[in-house]
Amino acid sequence: MEWGMANRLARTIKPDGHCFYLALDHGYFQGPTHKLENPGQTAQPLLKYVDAVFIPRGSLRSTFDPKMETPVILRVSGGNSMIGDDLSNEEVSVSIQEMLRLNASAVGISVYVGGKYEHQSIMALAKLVDTCNDYGMPVMAVTAVGREEEKKTARYLGLACRVCAEQGATVVKTYYCEDFEKVVQGCPVPVVIAGGPKTDNDLEVMQFVYDGIQRGAIGVNLGRNIWQNESPQAMACALQAIIHEDASPEAAFEIYQEIKNSSKA
Ligand code: 5RP
Repeated sequence: MEWGMANRLARTIKPDGHCFYLALDHGYFQGPTHKLENPGQTAQPLLKYVDAVFIPRGSLRSTFDPKMETPVILRVSGGNSMIGDDLSNEEVSVSIQEMLRLNASAVGISVYVGGKYEHQSIMALAKLVDTCNDYGMPVMAVTAVGREEEKKTARYLGLACRVCAEQGATVVKTYYCEDFEKVVQGCPVPVVIAGGPKTDNDLEVMQFVYDGIQRGAIGVNLGRNIWQNESPQAMACALQAIIHEDASPEAAFEIYQEIKNSSKA
């Protein structure tokens, strides 16, 4: 692997081979999501627990301190919105010069396999990989399901991950699902798990992160289940213990409760 690519990857995947990304990119198509009105403010107390932030350029520039040390995975696709016709109508929305100017350690793009704009979406990934390879920039492909939640099966996600890997994605982000190991086994590049809507069961989040890693994911790219939690720092610390210290979900839950209760005291 070329030095620059290896160096960038080493910033966001730790020596244990695992990674913890904080997803803060929702505003690029959802607008001012609850608790993400100011992403920099939301992220600030969590930065010490995570290995990178996944963020679009707008809120990176306007709400993050450029002196921060946490690596940036820049969201570089867009062109759609929650109220538009079809979420899969996305393209690459950031130039390579801008990715470098913002000192991105990697970039991320959604890919809508099976969506209305499937061809455009897969070709956007392929072209982004070509451009990024010239500059040693890793590409994270996000297997996006849009509004079609029923697509979160090992069969669909396995297919989507493999398509992204074959187009040259460095890492693929997908959802945890039943038979998740089949998704990982069919994907020749590392897989990271996304979160999904906030659940009311904190232990359940820890359980699926733990199970995902046991079944072959190298880490997570999680958003709402961290920053919409009533104690985001406690959740981030607990997840860090699972991802980097091999803590069980139960041990992580104890960490969570301890921090949550001490912050109330
Ligand atoms: C939004 C994304 C998010 O990065 C991804 O879904 C993770 O966030 P969450 O855990 O809140 O689902 O790609 O487009």
